[in-house]
Amino acid sequence: LPSGFVSVSRLSLVVVQSAQMQPDTHVYMFVCCVQVQDYLEPFRLSLEKLQEVSARATPDGTGSNWRRHIWGHENFLALDLGGTNFRVLHVRVVEEEQKMLKMDSQICAIPQEMMLGTGEQLFDHIAACLGDFLVSQDLKGHTLPLGFTFSFPCEQKEIDKSILIRWTKGFKCSGVEGEDVVKLLKEAIQRRGDYDIGSVAMVNDTVGTMMSCGYRDQSCEIGMIIGTGTNACYMEEMKNVKRVEGEAGRMCINTEWGGFGDDGSLRDILTEFDVVVDETSINPGVHTFEKMISGMYLGEIVRLVLVRLAKEKLLFKGQTSKDLLTPNTFQTKFISEIEDGLENAQNILTKLGLKWDDVDSRVVRLVCDTISSRSARLCAAALATLANRIRVNRGLDHLKTTVGVDGTVYRKHPNFSKELQATVRLLAPKCDITFLVSEDGSGKGAAMVTAVAQQHVCCCSSLFLLAAHKTTLNLHLTTCCVSMLH
Ligand code: GLC
Repeated sequence: LPSGFVSVSRLSLVVVQSAQMQPDTHVYMFVCCVQVQDYLEPFRLSLEKLQEVSARATPDGTGSNWRRHIWGHENFLALDLGGTNFRVLHVRVVEEEQKMLKMDSQICAIPQEMMLGTGEQLFDHIAACLGDFLVSQDLKGHTLPLGFTFSFPCEQKEIDKSILIRWTKGFKCSGVEGEDVVKLLKEAIQRRGDYDIGSVAMVNDTVGTMMSCGYRDQSCEIGMIIGTGTNACYMEEMKNVKRVEGEAGRMCINTEWGGFGDDGSLRDILTEFDVVVDETSINPGVHTFEKMISGMYLGEIVRLVLVRLAKEKLLFKGQTSKDLLTPNTFQTKFISEIEDGLENAQNILTKLGLKWDDVDSRVVRLVCDTISSRSARLCAAALATLANRIRVNRGLDHLKTTVGVDGTVYRKHPNFSKELQATVRLLAPKCDITFLVSEDGSGKGAAMVTAVAQQHVCCCSSLFLLAAHKTTLNLHLTTCCVSMLH
């Protein structure tokens, strides 16, 4: 083999895997792979580049005691809206001594037309699903507090007042941006008139995840989602939160890191394929970082690269297929499956109507590996920034902390979590981070926030205000939508 070939680590992997091939196949692979490299190179970010990205992602300064607060109430409802499905949950305290929470839940689909329809249709659908669930749980007639996980960028005014800044992740319902989503939910329930809900606490899914993981590990102070979208929240020192008066304690900040790069600060690492994904999305120009990382977009990036390689005659003998040429047909879950095994890759390529040979399937796996690996490393860069910030804020030489994580990309991809964790260790060497995958999703966390809010609602109109009034509460549960970039 030509020596240059083996020096490129990922390509050498392809060679090792195909050692039993005929020599002429090797030569063909060498030529083909070296050219494929030209297209994949811009996705490979060096550690130095990631350090730069991490340095650019500086939050702008914008608890654990909650356990004892939640036991006064026994039943909570939770809604979890953030992707193509939404979940309705009934959370119960069943064993006070053991601090056990039990949950029943139901998933309702949100049809594509509804994601692009009117806000009224969307909230009527949510209210209808909640109504059906109450009947199935025999809860109709009970007015229960509700935790609402609404996973879109919001300006949270109070615990039960949150203005949608903009839709992300394929949603574009009219009449919701700029409106209070809690109000829209309550109005939809009133339109039905057959049941009512108690007080509402709204949280982002990152916050719900941090809360539910914090139930198992009290040092959990970062919540991270890598699924359809990506985002993280973390506990910030109140003295650094400029929007709220008061210096004592900490406050949970929703970073909305998906919007990192919207000011052009990631331009140098965007590939031509990222640009196409953005331009053809329903929200061009926004959530740049999310579009390089999350499940809603990874499959499409891979598809665009495969189409280009086929057109350059570097794949499938220059042939494509109708499916490959159709946007969004290459699902993100295919990436996980392909990286899991060559046979899966071959089955998927066949299903997409492509005529492949052994080299093709290996190149496709290489493409998937390169793009998922970039995603994991970029997430690591942003996470390292948060961990380092918490460490520096507290004047610590060494920080030990826990990140609560959720999302299909993190959970389902065979190497993603390993690569992310290894990269964070390199980028934040003074932080010892434990990763805790959320067991019950963010819905349970939302119910917990509701419980805490319930306890304190009588003395102050919201936890947000509690924070402002410098009470002795350790946990100020409110989220500010603060861009990582300002
Ligand atoms: C999107 C939303 C954000 C959410 C994330 C993960 O980035 O804007 O609020 O947390 O997706 O679901």
